[in-house]
Amino acid sequence: MARPILISASILSADFARMGDEIRAVDQAGVDWIHIDVMDGHFVPNITLGPQMVRAIRPHTTKMLDVHLMIAPVDRYLEAFAEAGADLMTVHAEAGPHLHRSIQAVKALGKKAGVALNPATPAEAVDYIIDDVDVIMVMSVNPGFGGQKFIDSQLRKIEALRRRIDATGRDIGLEVDGGIGTENIAKAIAAGANVLVAGTATFKGGPDHYAANVAALREAR
Ligand code: DX5
Ligand code: ZN
Repeated sequence: MARPILISASILSADFARMGDEIRAVDQAGVDWIHIDVMDGHFVPNITLGPQMVRAIRPHTTKMLDVHLMIAPVDRYLEAFAEAGADLMTVHAEAGPHLHRSIQAVKALGKKAGVALNPATPAEAVDYIIDDVDVIMVMSVNPGFGGQKFIDSQLRKIEALRRRIDATGRDIGLEVDGGIGTENIAKAIAAGANVLVAGTATFKGGPDHYAANVAALREAR
């Protein structure tokens, strides 16, 4: 049976001054998850938002809040994001210093745990934590900004991670983040991804276009 394909809308491309409206609009447009990019100006060269924004978003949707933590250190902030309403918290393998500890900390808070790999990080980075995670996320751009070009070499990493996930026999999500659009979503899914982050591709054209944008992504797959 084909695995379900999920679209996670990255709010990095939303209008931050109208965030509540934007969340309700993409929820109604049929996205599956809301992807929230947290950046600290240290782990990545951009600064975005913190737990306060997650808390503000929470009442506007019942969909899964997929919180992508591009911050180092990360451990000391996990509790605040959990309390703010995150459902899934994804930490970077490169954020360090103790990835296994960070994942255990997410789970101890009762949340789903994800691990993200930057483009230069090999698939092997998950080998000793794969039994502890709910989601593995392949960064198909260098983290920091929306609207970048998909890096094709990451398709091989998606394939390698799909083999590892299937070998576990567990239902681990394989998420891809960065540069996803109608022109390449099919390739990412064929390689083994089942959760597709889409920022630019979801929000382009403004609220009147969200439903069509999401439908176009689903049809292109
Ligand atoms: C990049 C972020 C992505 C980004 C994706 O650091 O993690 O989630 O918003 O945006 P698009 O879909 O525009 O590449
Ligand atoms: Zn992201």
